[in-house]
Amino acid sequence: RAAQAGQTHVQLSSRRARPGPASAQTACPAPGPSSSWRRPIRSSCLTEFIFFADYSKSSGNYIVDVDGNTFAGHVHADLLSALSVALAIITLHCRRKCPSNRPALGVCPPSDWVDRPERQPATMMCGSCANENAIKMLFMRYMAKQRAGRPVSQQELDSTMLNERRAPRASPSCPSSAASTAAPWACLSCTRSKAIHKLDVPAFQWPAVDFPAYKYPLEQHQEHNAKQEKLSLVQVEETVNRQRATEPVAGLIVEPILAEGGDIHARPEYFKALRSLCSKLDVPLLVDEVQTGGGLCGTYWAHEQWGLDSPPDAVTFSKRTLLGGIYFSDNLVPDQQYRVYNTWLGEPSKVMLLEAVIRTIKEEKLMDSVLEAGTALTKGLEGLSQRYPQLINSPRGLGIMCAVDFADTNSRNEAVQRLRN
Ligand SMILES: Cc1ncc(COP(=O)(O)O)c(C=O)c1O
Repeated sequence: RAAQAGQTHVQLSSRRARPGPASAQTACPAPGPSSSWRRPIRSSCLTEFIFFADYSKSSGNYIVDVDGNTFAGHVHADLLSALSVALAIITLHCRRKCPSNRPALGVCPPSDWVDRPERQPATMMCGSCANENAIKMLFMRYMAKQRAGRPVSQQELDSTMLNERRAPRASPSCPSSAASTAAPWACLSCTRSKAIHKLDVPAFQWPAVDFPAYKYPLEQHQEHNAKQEKLSLVQVEETVNRQRATEPVAGLIVEPILAEGGDIHARPEYFKALRSLCSKLDVPLLVDEVQTGGGLCGTYWAHEQWGLDSPPDAVTFSKRTLLGGIYFSDNLVPDQQYRVYNTWLGEPSKVMLLEAVIRTIKEEKLMDSVLEAGTALTKGLEGLSQRYPQLINSPRGLGIMCAVDFADTNSRNEAVQRLRN
């Protein structure tokens, strides 16, 4: 109905029956090669999944798998109805205006794109795509500064086509887990997450810097933690200066919480000092909020909680924001067109869904719930780590992005397994 009425805003209204409570009918991962979770999907080079989800049965706080297990998860009941409305709108939109089922934002965006603000984030398909293009923007900004207003020469264009020009390096990336997974090449050169993703793929020689290694509880180890922050910042400065002796430095990339790197947190004081250091060194700061953005940390962006004097030069996002993208400051806007470009540049239906999500976050005051739940969760983890210090330690959290460290990998794996089952 919304689509037929030409409505472009998705209303989140329909309520579905919710599954729950959590219950496991089979072990998960289920044993044996015949179990659904282990079925190979060769086309995607993946053979091991945690489970196959049945999204038609999943809703609210519960995610249901094809074996009938119900796990705690997050599938907002309204998002599924929003999805069908958005798809209906997009389909109608496309039938009227575009000969494909997905407007190519890079070449023929839909007419309502004209009414959007002139300065808006660059939309992308995924987090890797966002980071890859943001890193490109760092290089472009560096070279634009070098040219100091001089137009790009024909010789530069010709040698670029022959891959002859030496590109400036976006370095250092800081530290163990910026951009992750089987990402494109620049992201792979940043990640320190899993060797298997990087194996056999050529890499740029971009250095990484150690994150502060805190002791918890933070308030009992202030001196140690402040020293760790200082060490990391000194390392950043030394690395930039050392790199500059041989290579240009185009930027520095950091995750607010090293997510795949083990949920390693750092204090706002650290990030504030890092921002100032980047400004002092004239190194643009790219904050990868692919894991932390979208509300899970209690604010739309984790970096909002750092109390920065000046914002990051670029912020990348994906995952909870449903589509990838880059916010960037004016100094990163390339001088020429077609420099941050691909066919789809994201997906308009995802933008509509994201708008719906943001409205729901506001209407249902979900950010308050995140803060409340995060406080309860962190307190709970602190309590558990006091009761079972031999098992878990270092409870920490920002919003509901909370973590503890286990004494060893086996006890971590066993806990995860038992929590699922
Ligand atoms: C911090 C960070 N950046 C970027 C990415 C890549 O995002 P995507 O998997 O959407 O390409 C990930 C993926 O997990 C990530 O954790």
